Amino acid sequence: MASFDILVLPGDGIGPEVTSEGVRALEAIGERFEHVFNFSEDIVGGAAIDAHGEAIRDETIEAAKASDAVLFGAVGGPKWSDPNAPVRPEQGLLRLRLELGLWANLRPVKPDPELSSASALKPEILEGVDMLFIRELTSGAYFGKPQERRVVDGKRAAVDTIYYHEDEVARIAHLGFRLARQRRNKVTSVDKANVLESSRLWREIVDEVRPEYPDVEFETLLVDAAAMHLLRRPSDFDVVISTNMFGDILTDEASMLTGSLGMLPSASVGDFGDNGTGLGMYEPIHGSAPDIAGQGIANPLGMILCVAELLRFSCGLEDEAQAIEAAVASAIADGLRTADLAAPGDPSLGTIEMADEVIRRIGERV
Ligand code: IPM
Ligand code: MG
Repeated sequence: MASFDILVLPGDGIGPEVTSEGVRALEAIGERFEHVFNFSEDIVGGAAIDAHGEAIRDETIEAAKASDAVLFGAVGGPKWSDPNAPVRPEQGLLRLRLELGLWANLRPVKPDPELSSASALKPEILEGVDMLFIRELTSGAYFGKPQERRVVDGKRAAVDTIYYHEDEVARIAHLGFRLARQRRNKVTSVDKANVLESSRLWREIVDEVRPEYPDVEFETLLVDAAAMHLLRRPSDFDVVISTNMFGDILTDEASMLTGSLGMLPSASVGDFGDNGTGLGMYEPIHGSAPDIAGQGIANPLGMILCVAELLRFSCGLEDEAQAIEAAVASAIADGLRTADLAAPGDPSLGTIEMADEVIRRIGERV
């Protein structure tokens, strides 16, 4: 019987509502497959600012490092969004990514054909869409220094820095090519090499890594063109590798192919051990959604699909991961919808009811 330590960081907004459903889904897997998941919980983001004056405490980082995986809800909200505030909820998330060494963020985008009516795109464009975004997560514009305010000629100015080191690019490229081999064997690299020096380095390093994977089809796109092609020919993409900021933007765009931001999981991972697994942090990409927080209507499926990624990448439990994905697909196939997915005027399930349906299917081995 395998046992895993999971740190649960629900965070703000709808974070706590969806995270508790993720925990229940993991417990259901534990029961069916006879694994033990030991949960501990802490606060992060706005909740931690209110309680401790900082977005995450050192002891929370230490607890995360000591665990097998972190299940993360969402952080932020209007209460803490004053741009001049010295502490911001997002700092908790960024510190976790950096200090846990989670340099790659994997965001699968595979629209369920059953949900094509929820997407703004035509069903024929969505046919066959199955991509995996790999976003660089611990460098680039998010962490480059200097990042500061300045006073220039008595007026306000600000600077951010996009920094990349060749090793940071190379490891993303290798991961992209390796994962492509397990999928449809194609990598698209996205940069802005016609303008940015950091992108010219990105392209140079990816070109150096490529010959090691001659069997993998490859294309490179400028980010503006990539944004267009994602909507024009989304089924052409398989693995997409990109920088921290371009990846952030393009994955929100790509999520619209699935009909709802509420459906998308993400896995943040770093160096894996010899057994192919390692510490990871799993968070739905939807964010804290303050407009619907506390109403019990948030879609828990993004979080429940995060649990599948957690089982896959941090526990090495592929059958268990697929059991979760099958249960979610079955609930969708049976016509069950949360408010974000339902057609206007159609009935919808709340967060807990939707999770109940998935959990029942995990138990029934659908
Ligand atoms: C994401 C989010 C975060 C990011 C925010 C909350 C800092 O948008 O995970 O995509 O920009 O990375
Ligand atoms: Mg984002």
